[in-house]
Amino acid sequence: SVELNPVLLPLDWLLGTWESDEPGEGCFPSIKPFHYTETLHFSHVGQPVINFMFNAFHAESKKPMHRECGFIRMQPGTNKVAFIIAQNSGLVEIEEGELTAQQLSLQSQAVARISFAREPHVQQISRVFQLRPDGKLEQTVSMATDNQELMQHLHITYRRSS
Ligand code: HEM
Repeated sequence: SVELNPVLLPLDWLLGTWESDEPGEGCFPSIKPFHYTETLHFSHVGQPVINFMFNAFHAESKKPMHRECGFIRMQPGTNKVAFIIAQNSGLVEIEEGELTAQQLSLQSQAVARISFAREPHVQQISRVFQLRPDGKLEQTVSMATDNQELMQHLHITYRRSS
């Protein structure tokens, strides 16, 4: 396999495949709370870029639901991280933030969508990835829409599966 580009060494703990260990929890003031499972893949091909895919499924029916894919870059010599993301809902976004220890805190810098995206429209996203001392990865996502201030939408933990 190709050697990891040294620019990405601070993010090497993210690489591989992660499976939700127990169903994640979804919520928002305007929706019915729900559960979901999710698989995350982080890989690289030697470029200073991590490629990722997040695939979420209905917790009971296992039906495919939300999907995101994109790229992660780091500004060399800094702890600045950027996510370039496309979502199956028709949303694209740039998130930027900082890596401190094994926690990534990101805020959307740009959000755009297809002309016929469902309403309400997402206006802002913030998320945190944290590698916990027990080796589990945790993701928390908050969003703001046309109708709601920034509020939590998702919380989930994963265990490494490869
Ligand atoms: C609802 C955005 C990830 C499942 C929604 C709504 C928005 C949204 C805008 C509608 C809220 C409203 O009606 O007020 C996002 C964004 C995500 C994301 C920006 C990622 C950053 C996920 C994931 C799942 C999920 C991973 C897992 C299955 C749902 C469900 C609903 C919902 C079940 C309620 C039913 C529906 O409106 O389809 N989401 N979502 N979302 N989301 Fe997400």
